[in-house]
Amino acid sequence: MREITKIAPAEGKLGILIPGMGAVTTTFIAGVEAIRRGMAKPIGSVTQLSTVRLGKRTDGRSPLIKDFVPLAGLNDLVFGAWDIFEDNCFEAAQKAGVLEAPLLDKLKEPLSALRPMKAVFDQEFVKRINGPNVKDKGTKMDKAEMLMDDIGNFKQNSGASRLAMIWCGSTEVYHTAAPVHATLKDFECGLMKNDPEISPSQIYAYAALKSGVPYANGAPHLTVDMPAMMELAREREVPIAGKDFKTGQTFMKTLIAPGLKSRMLGLSGWFSTNILGNRDGEVLDDPGSFRSKEETKLSALEQILQPELYPDLYKNIYHKVRINYYPPRGDAKEGWDNIDIFGWLGYPMQIKVDFLCRDSILAAPLVLDLVLFMDLAQRAGMRGVQEWLSFYFKGPMTAPGLYPEHDIFIQLMKLKNTLRWMQGEELITHLGQEYYD
Ligand SMILES: NC(=O)c1ccc[n+]([C@@H]2O[C@H](COP(=O)([O-])OP(=O)(O)OC[C@H]3O[C@@H](n4cnc5c(N)ncnc54)[C@H](O)[C@@H]3O)[C@@H](O)[C@H]2O)c1
Repeated sequence: MREITKIAPAEGKLGILIPGMGAVTTTFIAGVEAIRRGMAKPIGSVTQLSTVRLGKRTDGRSPLIKDFVPLAGLNDLVFGAWDIFEDNCFEAAQKAGVLEAPLLDKLKEPLSALRPMKAVFDQEFVKRINGPNVKDKGTKMDKAEMLMDDIGNFKQNSGASRLAMIWCGSTEVYHTAAPVHATLKDFECGLMKNDPEISPSQIYAYAALKSGVPYANGAPHLTVDMPAMMELAREREVPIAGKDFKTGQTFMKTLIAPGLKSRMLGLSGWFSTNILGNRDGEVLDDPGSFRSKEETKLSALEQILQPELYPDLYKNIYHKVRINYYPPRGDAKEGWDNIDIFGWLGYPMQIKVDFLCRDSILAAPLVLDLVLFMDLAQRAGMRGVQEWLSFYFKGPMTAPGLYPEHDIFIQLMKLKNTLRWMQGEELITHLGQEYYD
């Protein structure tokens, strides 16, 4: 047994701070409120429902993850959010149209009490929406300081002993890292000079990390996936993670592709198309925001299939991803995949997937798991990129120079082994020779 990682206890309340109070955030918060009241179960949440096997298969030790590592309890969570619209959480949930009225009505009191703080917003980065609830004066550095004040005030008023921030705001327009993102010094200079390459999400992340608050990115844009933020996270000893929640179609992709590869079946093409009609779909209708999404959606297949190692099977894949904004469907997205594969002697076959999913229903438990695990990582002294949380992301962040792991089964093993490692338990290799000695 290795030494147990020292983990500070999860005492007191955990404050969850969320930029963006739209479909995902309201579904997450309403869900936690419903579960606390015994009105629903936390389906889809690994922290709440999954077990972790310890020791040999014959040992019969499989505690729930939440009993194995010290996580904050659902009753200890308090919420704060920012949005460009003034709607409280109840009104925003009604507009998002994910949860039905009979459930929302029962939660009206706690949800109405949550009013969004004024957002840091810039329409250069999110083209299709605009709203009144914004901080509109000062430089980008002034805005970062206003966010730090928000964070400090929230902590004091809510009585939270610890905080975690998770971006559930709109997807920003595609940008790659610019010179201003090279070092922390460059970035701080850029904040003072209003550098146009600094996006609102980066200002939130800067404020969080400066305040010692872990930051996870649920959208595909860069934010903490650049050298300046990684430097700040290390300096402040704060965990960061991202990017882009792995929910509908990419979730399916990372289930199917490792299966095909495990049997050495070839792939010639994968065409994916979606219709969705929520606000996220509207924002993604803008080519700049879609480009951010396209990057994370496309990267998974290439990484899983490793065409450089298996050129006969995966060298010439035609991979296309489309998102179409189609208002009648609201949050109830439909994602189609046509997969052209080939087998023995090159004979072609096809797989069709029609996933009638609900985006925010799939995303909400990921938000819960991420904030609980980020808080755990913080208390365990784990700073910088949390690669063990790749399981939750379409575009997992890694240390510079490392390729990300996209195979969901490897990701889950990595996650559970990290928990075993934290608690000084043997890692599970699945070798199994010991049962036959
Ligand atoms: N639902 C999923 O399955 C899923 C999967 C992967 C990623 N995501 C990402 O999660 C994010 C949230 O998705 P959603 O469906 O809730 O979207 P949404 O459009 O319903 O909500 C986003 C909210 O963010 C607000 N916002 C935009 N810019 C802001 C800013 N600078 N500060 C504060 N608020 C801001 C908007 O006003 C809106 O209310 C999106 O970026 C989406 O791409 C969602």
